[in-house]
Amino acid sequence: MCGITAVAGPGDEDVVDVLLGGLRNLEYRGYDSAGVATPGDGGVSVVKREGGIDDLASALDAAAVAGSVGVGHTRWSTHGAPTDANAHPHTDCDDRVAVVHNGIIENYSTLREELLARGHSFTSDTDTEVVPHLVAERLAAGASAAEAFRDTVARLDGRYAVAMVVDGEDAVYAARDGSPLVVGVGDDRRFVASDVPSFLEHTADVVFLEDGDVVRVTADDHVVTDADGRRADRDVNTVDWQPEDAERDGFDHYMLKEIHEQPAAVERAVNGRITAAGGVDLDGFPPGSFGDVDDVQIVACGTSYHAALYARQLLAERGVPTQVFSAGEYATTPAPVGDDTLVVGVTQSGETADTLASLQAAADRGARTLAVTNVVGSTAARTCDDALFIRAGPEIGVAATKTFSSQVATLTLLAERLAEDVTGSVPEERAAVLRALERLPSDLQDVLDRAAVEPLAAQFRDRDGHFFIGRGVAYPVALEGALKFKEITYEHAEGFAAGELKHGPLALVTPDTPVFAVFSGRHDDKTLNNVEEVASRGAPVVGVASEESTDVVDAVDEFLPIPDTHPVAAGVLANVQLQLVSYHVADLLGRSIDKPRNLAKSVTVE
Ligand code: M6R
Repeated sequence: MCGITAVAGPGDEDVVDVLLGGLRNLEYRGYDSAGVATPGDGGVSVVKREGGIDDLASALDAAAVAGSVGVGHTRWSTHGAPTDANAHPHTDCDDRVAVVHNGIIENYSTLREELLARGHSFTSDTDTEVVPHLVAERLAAGASAAEAFRDTVARLDGRYAVAMVVDGEDAVYAARDGSPLVVGVGDDRRFVASDVPSFLEHTADVVFLEDGDVVRVTADDHVVTDADGRRADRDVNTVDWQPEDAERDGFDHYMLKEIHEQPAAVERAVNGRITAAGGVDLDGFPPGSFGDVDDVQIVACGTSYHAALYARQLLAERGVPTQVFSAGEYATTPAPVGDDTLVVGVTQSGETADTLASLQAAADRGARTLAVTNVVGSTAARTCDDALFIRAGPEIGVAATKTFSSQVATLTLLAERLAEDVTGSVPEERAAVLRALERLPSDLQDVLDRAAVEPLAAQFRDRDGHFFIGRGVAYPVALEGALKFKEITYEHAEGFAAGELKHGPLALVTPDTPVFAVFSGRHDDKTLNNVEEVASRGAPVVGVASEESTDVVDAVDEFLPIPDTHPVAAGVLANVQLQLVSYHVADLLGRSIDKPRNLAKSVTVE
């Protein structure tokens, strides 16, 4: 949603440079306004601007902001339009306290009314601004900065992460309840941020704060207290992400870089998880781990939801009763769970509010929960009964790409483990599935090496609508193809189960609505019938299928080939072709590919 960064002890570097670097690494979390603050002896200095980090950097060129600690923020607006006034940091009436915040303070209007009645004046429309005013009141009453911050945080309802600097103190205060916040532990400096990439170029040693934690961070120390105010020992974990993982590495966009990282990402997802004897060796989940599971519910949003639909196909084929739910719906109307229901949350970030709320609702009803996530130390990983990591490495582009492939690879292995444990038998098809997974990295590389979608992108860049169809595992790929297309091109796109076309959507099909038909190698004959339906209405058809599918080649106007493989892997390969189509159309249209309008990478509000 929003990105928080803070540093204590910038070393040889200028505090503003460290903050700007941290913000640039977090810009995927929000990019409609940004700001920084440092404390001095006579008050805090704040510079903030509507727009991106470059706008803030230009404003900082003309400002005298210095110091040895500071907080910064990049915003994705929820309360109040993206203006200079609503940008963070926010201050109290006397500019003694500066606060940045991610999430929503649900009781802010009550607090604001109270503060107004006591003579405070507000300069923004945000929920955040109540925080510095509350802190300032406690300071005026004689509380220390630590006491004032803790007392204030205790009054906030909602899901939030906040960080604060106060005049005269070389420390950053921060707290989390429901929104991510981590501490980076360097040799002679420390950081606070919403996410690890913010400070990864300085340190890979990270403390993952827990809900209710309050931390005071100085250059050489960090002291964490828990929700009860007791000193809490939080482990320092070393993350295995490299700084270059979070850089563009010569690509024009993070999205393109991450599309090209898919062979390596899937390699990591599969590596060591398939035994020489053709079994599945999932770290932490030996055979029998799911022996008491009767049925599976999967909750997820967006691309992760599509990966979940993909996994459902395999689980259903293996005889494991499985339902997939949009987490936003499950959170408000949870499905009934039995004593032996496993509820799996699929979430790249591990921080998506709807998914976390769904997992909590399931846990409250007694279900066993499992997070399938990319982020070690994320809320989902820490709050579920178990966690399984997809090992994709950091994904910076707002559009999820490599994480879809890594999710599908990991969920396929999980499905094989579940199927064996739940049904008590090893399906004959397993060997073929595992072979296809082992081959998937080189098949992905093959698609990337041979892809040539630019002419097609030029042909279809400006049409009335773009439809994506598929069945079986090709159905979630069609949904994912359409999501990616609309997300980064801003053009109209819809994904359908191929069989649904004639139940309504066919009315929209014209010669100006290209149809992307995805084939996995299973049920292709039926999808070819649907191709006939749209072709006879004049729609141009793009087929994405095995290079050996002569039937498809003959039936379509344009053909995007993938290596011939098992259907479980074919969908992932077809998806890469569709990612490239979306990318190149968006590029031709001059869209903001890594930071599409109105969207943020991590959606931490429901
Ligand atoms: O971090 P999550 O996987 O829980 O995020 C879920 C969705 O917000 C995410 O997949 C979103 O749909 C992507 N921007 C799509 O590209």
